[in-house]
Amino acid sequence: MIKIAPSLLASDFTRLAEEVKTIDNADMLHLDIMDGHFVPNLTFGPGIISALRDKTDLVFDTHLMISNPEDYIEEYAEAGSDYITFHIEATNHSHRLIQRIKESGCKAGVSLNPGTSLKEIELILPDLDMVLIMSVNPGFGGQKYIPQITEKIARLNSMIEELNNDVAIAVDGGIKLHNVSEVIEAGADIIIAGSAIFGSENPYEMIKKFRAAGE
Ligand code: DX5
Ligand code: ZN
Repeated sequence: MIKIAPSLLASDFTRLAEEVKTIDNADMLHLDIMDGHFVPNLTFGPGIISALRDKTDLVFDTHLMISNPEDYIEEYAEAGSDYITFHIEATNHSHRLIQRIKESGCKAGVSLNPGTSLKEIELILPDLDMVLIMSVNPGFGGQKYIPQITEKIARLNSMIEELNNDVAIAVDGGIKLHNVSEVIEAGADIIIAGSAIFGSENPYEMIKKFRAAGE
């Protein structure tokens, strides 16, 4: 069963608590943390996550697009994250960081920029709960899906099948109704979408349509 994770980045920041209520038929809430250093944009931090924690039962999927992720794991765990995902490009100590995330009580994910090879995560794949494939360059919502990512998802899917474990494949960026089937067919388990869901007239209905595309 496909999981839908709307990205809070595309919501109305003046009404966050109401916005999360409009998507309560989703599976996860995707939380984009940007530091103005690893990516050329700034969003929000652990304060917003903990403020939202008791407003919804959705699984909190924290996507750290930050330099030095090792300095912030406990803070984001305590704020209420269920999954913490860091970028493989942001650390030299990915294996250690995965253990730290698990010790903090969260599930561990690693994200890859569009230009980063799957080879980078081959050795840590057995330890991961999620791989988050970026299908746009991280930093902004509303960008266009990079077409060669579909092949990358399919290759990751084969790598995971060979391993015979249950690492989830999440895909993030530029996913709309017109291309969501392509992403699911390639092997995605979690669909992250910002503008397509929060930018629609009726986010609740849009989630249903995304889900139907995976059936
Ligand atoms: C981009 C973020 C994405 C973004 C997706 O850096 O990681 O999660 O919110 O937004 P859309 O779906 O609009 O491309
Ligand atoms: Zn994201």
